[in-house]
Amino acid sequence: MNILLTGGAGYIGSHTALSLIDNGHSVTVIDNLITGSKTLIPSEAKHYNFDIADESLIKKILKENKFDIAMHFAGLTRVDESVKYPEKYQLHNFEKSKIFFSSCIKNNLKKIIFSSSAGVYGNSNSTNLTEDSELKPINPYADSKYKIENYLIEISKKDKVDYTILRYFNVAGADKSKRSGLIARSSTNLIKVICEVATKKREKIIINGDDYETKDGTAIRDFIHVTDIADMHVLAADNLLKKTTTNIFNCGYGSGYSVKEVITEMEKIIKNKLQVEIGPRRPNDIAVSIANSDKFKKEFNWKPRFNNLNIILSSALNWERNNS
Ligand SMILES: NC(=O)c1ccc[n+]([C@@H]2O[C@H](COP(=O)([O-])OP(=O)(O)OC[C@H]3O[C@@H](n4cnc5c(N)ncnc54)[C@H](O)[C@@H]3O)[C@@H](O)[C@H]2O)c1
Repeated sequence: MNILLTGGAGYIGSHTALSLIDNGHSVTVIDNLITGSKTLIPSEAKHYNFDIADESLIKKILKENKFDIAMHFAGLTRVDESVKYPEKYQLHNFEKSKIFFSSCIKNNLKKIIFSSSAGVYGNSNSTNLTEDSELKPINPYADSKYKIENYLIEISKKDKVDYTILRYFNVAGADKSKRSGLIARSSTNLIKVICEVATKKREKIIINGDDYETKDGTAIRDFIHVTDIADMHVLAADNLLKKTTTNIFNCGYGSGYSVKEVITEMEKIIKNKLQVEIGPRRPNDIAVSIANSDKFKKEFNWKPRFNNLNIILSSALNWERNNS
């Protein structure tokens, strides 16, 4: 396959580019490096450093190449920032994505895979979120994902676009050969924070609430290894190429770990205690968020390769140690 991939200098886009290349496919990345790093783009991929909303440049590369599928990862990803600057998220995630999708369609690239988020389900506390669960985004980041999902669904009816929307749960870990990982600075990603404390780049882990109705009082999340997410894109792309299809899938393991369990597992790996402080709950945070991923498993006979907390944490730690 010949894949056009936006956001390939970022965390999940770069891992997906690696999986595609490892499976013998060609990848062209569009990334303006607003949050990403050129060092994460695989050397085998072509890179264009421009904005996804630059219609004339997109048109130019679509005319010069024959892509089979567009995978759209590019966007801003911080919930806290989106609450502070909602218009920024409306512009970067919704308006720019709209322009990108229209450019693809106008130039006859009508097979699209879109990175959405479990955030579209809002704060419904659930151990079994299915693709049909109610959608109720509660922050501007999740709202931007919800809106662009709807836009894609609408244009697909009008312009006969085949799409696959993938709703990721908590993406974590790093490439096992240390070719990519999470580089975000002052990240709020729990596993990133734990790795920074484990490597003494950060002083302590603050647990946001230990009074939830869970087994140990801390929140439970469905952590999925980034390489499993990347492989899910390869499967989805293969399917999209062969079929006329429009579909939405959850991307998680269907099981979860509490914040305290994740910290304890890391302490076992480093054979040391981590400094932890209990803080207040974050506004609108929920006790439990776990995917029902049966739909993807059934459709693709999917078996994750890295469904193991120790592997997720060790790979993230190895990446963190390598990238001081
Ligand atoms: N990380 C997660 O846990 C998670 C969970 C759910 C959904 N997602 C979604 O997955 C996608 C990728 O997330 P990530 O964690 O890899 O983020 P990231 O910030 O690491 O990567 C995003 C990439 O997009 C690029 N980019 C942003 N706006 C651009 C623009 N207008 N033009 C060109 N390039 C642009 C950035 O430079 C960056 O390299 C995002 O759409 C995000 O909303 C991520």
